[in-house]
Amino acid sequence: MKMFISKEVEELSNNYLANPFGNKKDKRIENWIFTLNELPEMKSGVVDLTNEVSVDFKEGDSREIEKLLLNLMPWRKGPFRINRITIDSEWDSGKKWERFKALNLNLRNTSILDVGSGNGYYAFRMVGAGANQVLCLEPNLVHVSQFASINHFIGTEKIRMIPERLETSGLKNTNFDYIFSMGLLYHQRSPEEHLLDLKSLLKERGKLVIETIIAPEGFGKYLQPNHGNYASMPNVHFVHTDLGCKEIFAETGLKVVSETIPVITDSKEQRKTKWMPFKSFEKALDEEDESMTVEGYPAPARKFYILERIH
Ligand SMILES: C[S@@+](CC[C@H](N)C(=O)[O-])C[C@H]1O[C@@H](n2cnc3c(N)ncnc32)[C@H](O)[C@@H]1O
Repeated sequence: MKMFISKEVEELSNNYLANPFGNKKDKRIENWIFTLNELPEMKSGVVDLTNEVSVDFKEGDSREIEKLLLNLMPWRKGPFRINRITIDSEWDSGKKWERFKALNLNLRNTSILDVGSGNGYYAFRMVGAGANQVLCLEPNLVHVSQFASINHFIGTEKIRMIPERLETSGLKNTNFDYIFSMGLLYHQRSPEEHLLDLKSLLKERGKLVIETIIAPEGFGKYLQPNHGNYASMPNVHFVHTDLGCKEIFAETGLKVVSETIPVITDSKEQRKTKWMPFKSFEKALDEEDESMTVEGYPAPARKFYILERIH
């Protein structure tokens, strides 16, 4: 079989092919494995990863499959469609993907690292855009179980997921054409260290794709939320301004080669659904003034930066 990205990635990811959770300890794993084992084997599906993430089979009991997939809730990223079942996730992740696509980058025949990949929604779209092989790093095991369930039906060998953080993944000697870090920068205690870790795994002419929340210019370099709470999200350490982002990029030896304009998140992009029935966007903003978060900060606006190494 063809090597998966590099000898190092092949070795690190091989262990998770038979059991996506490896030797992780979590009392939910038994239930997830039971659910994954119950998913029916289906043949000759027609897969679309270009316009959406979907697969159509000639047969299959959709109601039974839906019941099993609901066991893997909460579904934060998606949507996915399997026959007539639409996994209507909390986020309409297609919207972020469209913003990325507008940057016109060529993913054909590339090797990609997606750090904090969630359930792999974007990795499927990367393969749809022509990527050769995508390695996902995702420490949240709910997302890992969801990836395994979706790929049970899609069946691509071009994506592998390791249930680890970037810092504990063991990756050292592999260089990727593209590295994605979407929705991670503001969760870092040291954003500079995160950027340096990402940069060290990038090919010389490789591209780093950073997607993050941007604070308005008036905050100087960054907004530092009280007790790390911002838009009902915990562990938000720094929300940089555009200026602040560009400053840490320069400090870490990265240059901006393209960028999008900031887009304010709305309730079309993030909301509570049957597949994620818990607290969502409606709890993030001030009920009386949607331009502010419940904590009294400006509402989140998100933006992409495409970076290359300066040296
Ligand atoms: C806000 S979500 C963003 C998910 C996805 N990238 C997106 O843009 O929709 C951040 C994800 O990164 C994962 N994560 C957090 N810290 C990480 C780290 N140090 N290494 C890898 N993944 C991490 C979390 O488990 C979570 O799934």
